[in-house]
Parts: sequence; structure tokens; C-alpha cells
Amino acid sequence: MSTTQRKVTIQTLFERKASAERITAITAYDYPTALLVDGAGVDMILVGDSLGNVILGYENTLPVTMDEMVHHVKAVRRGVKRALLVADMPFMSYQASVEDAVRNAGRFVKECGAEAVKVEGAGGIVSIVRAIVDSGIPVLGHIGFTPQWILQLGGPKVRGRRAKEAAELISAAIELERAGCFGVVLECVPAKLSKVITERLSIPTIGIGSGADCDGQILVFHDLVGLLPTKTPKHAKRYLSAYELMDEAVKSYIAEVKDGLFPTVEHSFEIDDEVIVEALREVELSNL
Ligand code: KIV
Repeated sequence: MSTTQRKVTIQTLFERKASAERITAITAYDYPTALLVDGAGVDMILVGDSLGNVILGYENTLPVTMDEMVHHVKAVRRGVKRALLVADMPFMSYQASVEDAVRNAGRFVKECGAEAVKVEGAGGIVSIVRAIVDSGIPVLGHIGFTPQWILQLGGPKVRGRRAKEAAELISAAIELERAGCFGVVLECVPAKLSKVITERLSIPTIGIGSGADCDGQILVFHDLVGLLPTKTPKHAKRYLSAYELMDEAVKSYIAEVKDGLFPTVEHSFEIDDEVIVEALREVELSNL
């Protein structure tokens, strides 16, 4: 197997950091997307609780349940061969107790085939990270803007612009590394601060809206391909306008059906006229 085909493990990510080769990550929530992004050669696939927003149409990630996540992680697992598969622990699946955290992380591994889990925050979350790691499950941390803390944060915002908050983020990243995280997502952290954090850690940082100096980058699939009609967030780059392309396709289908242009013989199945005649004769006989 070549480097690009080799199965990605958390060790691969450590090697990437050591050799300064950038890590690529994308979210996926279903089988076809998993096939696509894994086949394209991405290193890490996150079944993010962002599925609350982009798949289930919730206003934020707070309502997402374990059962909803399990359903999607299983679907993604069926499409992933090479990438490291990480499952996002939804709000209140790990915050209430260490037991909940370990049991729910275990569900992702045992029932769904996830290879790691992600949790948001530091501080009180650190002991939970340690317990999950101690049970044998790799954990990806997530600091900066952490959507599960939206009620406290008041909305999406860049974190760490002031010295006190910047210091808290540096300490949080170090705490998560010490607790055994194999990597840390930095979301909406100023680029220069992300660079400082990245240089201080021996585990990889994966940035989203956090500048080019992180060890890797992650984007939400729907932002990357423009799968929703809503505005792309500032930190994301839209590489395709998939929504517009799909909208055109659906409208063409509707127009062609109405105009009798679809289906044509090409999309239909043939039968000999004699078979029809015989069938009709049989129907008539059976009705006698
Ligand atoms: O849920 C998610 O998709 C995430 C990424 C944005 C890192 O947490």
C-alpha cells in the first residue's frame, strides 16, 4: 500500500506532525459522502454533531442525541476504508458523569466502528477525557468556539482575542494534551494564537477558522461543496456550488416530465407486442 492508501491511525497523525505534513479532515454524515471523501484521500473523517444543523435542520447542535449520532456514524462507517473515523459526542452525552462519557464513547466504538471520539471544552471536561482515554478510546479535543457552549457564549464568536482568553486557550490545549488527547480542534481562534498553541503541543492541532499554521484543517462537507442555500461562514471556502447545480437538475427533471421528454425509450424496458396480446387473452379467460 502506498502512503496515500495506507490506513490512517492516530500514529499516522503524530507522524504527520513530526514531518510537518498537513493533515486533512472533512465531516461526513452518510454513506455516499463517506465513500466520496474517503476515496478522495482525506486523512480524518468526523461525523460531527454539526449534523444537527446541516442534516437535521436544528437551529444549533444542542438537540442532537446519541441515537441520532449512532445512526449516522454507522452509515459513514460503511463507506470508510482508509481515513481515521472520529465520532462527535453530542451535548449531554459526556458532561453529566464520567460513567455516561465512557459508556457513550464505548457505544461509538462497539456499535458503530468509530476509531476515536471528540469532545468539546477543557476545565471540567479534562477528567472526562482522561477516563475515556483510560478505557482505551482515543479522544480528540475541541477548544476555541465550541458550539455546545453556545448558551454560555451567546453565539458563534472568535475566541482568544484578549490576553486572558488567549492564555486560557493555551492552558486548555496543554491540559487536553496532558489528559491524553491525540489532537485538538481549534475553532475560530486567531491565526497567530493557533500558531503559538500548535508550536507548544506535541499532538496535532486541527484548525477550522484558525489560520494556516495548524497541523491540519477541517471543513464541514456542506460548506466545502455548497450543499445548502445559506451563506458560507467566513472561515469556510466553498469549492463548488452544489445546491445551485442540484437545483438546476431537479428543475430540469420537473420540466422534462411535464413536457413528456422524460422518460425516453433509453430509460424504459421493452416487451414484445405478442406477449401483451397473450397476457390480455389470459386476463380475459380468467375473468370468464
Ligand atoms: O461538529 C462538527 O462538525 C465539528 C467540526 C466543525 C470540527 O465539531
